[in-house]
Amino acid sequence: MLEITNLDAYYGKVQALKNISLSMGPQEIISIIGSNGAGKTTLMSCIMGIVHGVGGEIKYKNQNITNLKTHVITKRGVVYIPEGREVFPSMTVLHNLEMGAYSKKFTKKELNYHLDSMYELFPRLKERSSQKASSLSGGEQQMLAIARGLMSDPQLLMCDEPSLGLAPVIVDDVFRIIVRVSQEMKIPVIIVEQNAYMALSISDRCYVLENGRIVSSGASKDLIDSDDIKKAYLGG
Ligand SMILES: Nc1ncnc2c1ncn2[C@@H]1O[C@H](COP(=O)(O)OP(=O)(O)O)[C@@H](O)[C@H]1O
Ligand SMILES: [Mg+2]
Repeated sequence: MLEITNLDAYYGKVQALKNISLSMGPQEIISIIGSNGAGKTTLMSCIMGIVHGVGGEIKYKNQNITNLKTHVITKRGVVYIPEGREVFPSMTVLHNLEMGAYSKKFTKKELNYHLDSMYELFPRLKERSSQKASSLSGGEQQMLAIARGLMSDPQLLMCDEPSLGLAPVIVDDVFRIIVRVSQEMKIPVIIVEQNAYMALSISDRCYVLENGRIVSSGASKDLIDSDDIKKAYLGG
């Protein structure tokens, strides 16, 4: 599904990613954990063609997408939910969801089908469909940001720090939804998180980023028990 080989990325002269290699299969949830500034968002930005001029290779479904434009990558079915849940605050929930499908030019029937499946996954959004997005709680806005991304019927979902700034019980809800999305919509998911414990507990495999490098990777269930990971990310 995704195969990254020896990826380097720069901001000006500063190298933000160093020799990143990563792969994911068609049904996996993988997590990318690391502290603030490790390079997680930069890695997502490289995949999405937001950061350009990168070295190395990014292959998606066996095609080279390195340095392609963002809209081309989006069109191929990759959806990125950026950190900070960027919903359109003054639009209604429904309108936000419709905007997610905008580029697909669905028929009315297709649009309603996708709306119904989002309302089934996210019943709170159905209840609030005519409210402005700005009136939703942080957790609901995160759900809306994910649902809006899913409206385009993606083939790869990438979520950047979905837990950021949310209360622990809400974080549980958000992660439960991500697992359901992966299972029910049968799409692979990449989760980028500083919340290492949550990310490890729901992902199949994990990559640990530090200072722009992958310093560890493996099955999440093994990493969660590893002393190094415990010491560095799970509070000893
Ligand atoms: N637009 C930018 N211009 C210059 N440096 C940046 C930019 N975005 C991020 N960086 C730097 O790149 C490094 C990685 O940042 P980032 O990918 O945002 O980390 P993370 O998402 O893991 O917190 C940091 O040192 C950060 O300061
Ligand atoms: Mg980030």
